[in-house]
Amino acid sequence: MAQIEFIDALGVDDGVRQVTELFREAFGEEPAGVWDAPGRVNLIGEHTDYNNGLCLPIALPHRTFIALKPREDTKVRVISTLSDGKVSEVDLDGLQAGDVEGWAAYPVGVAWAMRNTNFGTGVRGFDAAFASSVPLGGGLSSSAAMTCSTALALDDVYDLGFGSTDEGRVTLVRMAMSAENDMAGAATGGLDQSASLRCQEGMALLLDCDPKLSAVDSVSQHDFDLSKRGLELLVLDTQAPHSLNDGQYESRRRLCEESAAALGVDSLRVLADDVNARPEQERADAIAEIIAKLDSEEAKKRVRHVLTEIGRVTDFVEAFRNGDIARSGELFNASHDSLRDDYEVTVPQLDVAVDVARTEGAYGARMTGGGFGGSIIALVDEGKAEPIAQKIADEFDKRGWNAPRALAVVASQPAERVQ
Ligand code: GLA
Repeated sequence: MAQIEFIDALGVDDGVRQVTELFREAFGEEPAGVWDAPGRVNLIGEHTDYNNGLCLPIALPHRTFIALKPREDTKVRVISTLSDGKVSEVDLDGLQAGDVEGWAAYPVGVAWAMRNTNFGTGVRGFDAAFASSVPLGGGLSSSAAMTCSTALALDDVYDLGFGSTDEGRVTLVRMAMSAENDMAGAATGGLDQSASLRCQEGMALLLDCDPKLSAVDSVSQHDFDLSKRGLELLVLDTQAPHSLNDGQYESRRRLCEESAAALGVDSLRVLADDVNARPEQERADAIAEIIAKLDSEEAKKRVRHVLTEIGRVTDFVEAFRNGDIARSGELFNASHDSLRDDYEVTVPQLDVAVDVARTEGAYGARMTGGGFGGSIIALVDEGKAEPIAQKIADEFDKRGWNAPRALAVVASQPAERVQ
């Protein structure tokens, strides 16, 4: 059987060299600087961000590098190590939402979003070269790594001053989100961009997506040093086809909003807070009472997922802080089962990968990200990530599925300037 492949993270020296060389070849001059931004895995709290709920991402060591130089005109030219030597060119002047096709929509969208604000009117065009080790379509936010690295680079070269503080970075999160939602047409709820710009090394970011909170109150950092606890986090990209653009994500999002309206609240978060304020043994009844008011079976299941999942985030933070790894793992498992049965966003590859990880001794395993393909994570004892990944690869091979790829991951630093 084929040996499981691990995707190495592109280190800073190699990343800087690759994008600088590509920039020189494509544009015949030196970039003004090099920046990078990480992909993310969400530990728990899935499909909660757009319900004003809680999530808990870490930043990956796998990052996207950008070499950038501002231009005097409004032209944007971008190239990537994956674009086969092809430079995409777009003029920012007169650009409207949705105008840019293909991957250039992401970096161009960031400059476009900035120019639509009162602080960004001075933003002009730029040349940029990208290289990345965040797997594409793996549910690990390669798009956020691209928009967030671009946002930080533009913030820096135009002296906008947002990148230097965590509070300021919330503005860059908004720019990156607008690029993805409005220019690329990908609905995303803010988890990915916040992770890429606000996570800290060694820490998990508890992100509260209640829009009423200030930047400072919306996050807290929680120790996630696994080696100290003799643990490892396996991340495994199932290589099942993954897309947020086929309407499944949007339709779930809409149903959550409609259900909140039908239940007389602004967002499902309000109800989650009511439920989670109760003693644990009363929560299931409280949820049953709420969902009984909804008409469709589908809405009942979706709402049950969101309400239980928000509770699991706080429970996980507490269990992990107390060193209760068994309980932390159980919460991973409960999250996956809820995403499979109630939110219905898993695919067979995700379910099988999770099952194998559990059978092979993971404390817990779950899909991470939006679902419909993408990656799983498993909390395992040190030294177990590789053999468990191999078992999953063997099972995939037996079933005739694409070979999965694994990533060795520790909680890493947020978007930064590296050159
Ligand atoms: C995708 C979206 C995020 C979030 C997750 C599900 O990754 O981009 O905003 O909604 O799905 O938790």
